[in-house]
Amino acid sequence: MSFTDADNVGEFLVSARSFAEYEAMFSLSASDLAGRVLDCPAGAASFTAHAARLGALATAVDPVYAIAPRELRRLVVSEQDRGSAHTIAGSDRYVWDFYGDSVGHRAMRWASALTFVDDIAAHPDRYVVGSLPALPFDDGQFDLVLSSHFLFTYADRLDGRFHHRALVELLRVCSGEVRVFPLLDQGGHALGQMTEEVLGWLRRGGATAEVRPVAYEFQRGGNQMLVLSGSLTSTPQTG
Ligand SMILES: C[S@@+](CC[C@H](N)C(=O)[O-])C[C@H]1O[C@@H](n2cnc3c(N)ncnc32)[C@H](O)[C@@H]1O
Repeated sequence: MSFTDADNVGEFLVSARSFAEYEAMFSLSASDLAGRVLDCPAGAASFTAHAARLGALATAVDPVYAIAPRELRRLVVSEQDRGSAHTIAGSDRYVWDFYGDSVGHRAMRWASALTFVDDIAAHPDRYVVGSLPALPFDDGQFDLVLSSHFLFTYADRLDGRFHHRALVELLRVCSGEVRVFPLLDQGGHALGQMTEEVLGWLRRGGATAEVRPVAYEFQRGGNQMLVLSGSLTSTPQTG
């Protein structure tokens, strides 16, 4: 498989979405950023840097932060090239309005990656090494948890049980809402059966799970986020 395969990017991509993308994907308002916000996994996104500037107590978590700073910088740079090549390979699967075209898309990701690189050097305390489905945080430590382009995106290698365990963990560390975007896999396919099964397990465990439309669509048909809230009273057997 080539890394430009439109259906499969290969290894988990360390992408660098911008604050503007997060704002649109998660329908963020000023009040959403008034408290403690977790980006999981954050990759090289500049959300944390930008949200902190706006006054949020923002934390980013990702396993990739275990890599030494110089190597991480090199990786982040090469990953934006890999991401652009993957996107261009499947160009007709995307709605380009938000970015204008592939050049605008690439420029936004590059600017975001550079902001991330500066911010992790200046504020390493905001960036925590951790992996789903077990995060190094206390119960209810965050008011809002955002999860972009990991769950559902990599459904080719992460099954329904993993999604359930990961979402239970995101709910554990959150006292407000967990928002997840998108609900498509990386090839742009809807995951109806797996999504329904996972949401069923969460609802039976006592969580509230709602799918809401958002005013952002890049992958065609990818204009919905999952919003979870509530405490789980039980963890039903999965499968
Ligand atoms: C496509 S990036 C998304 C980054 C960012 N949220 C964005 O939208 O630009 C996926 C990220 O998932 C991270 N990742 C891989 N395995 C993980 C795991 N088990 N738990 C949490 N994050 C993981 C990768 O390191 C990578 O940074």
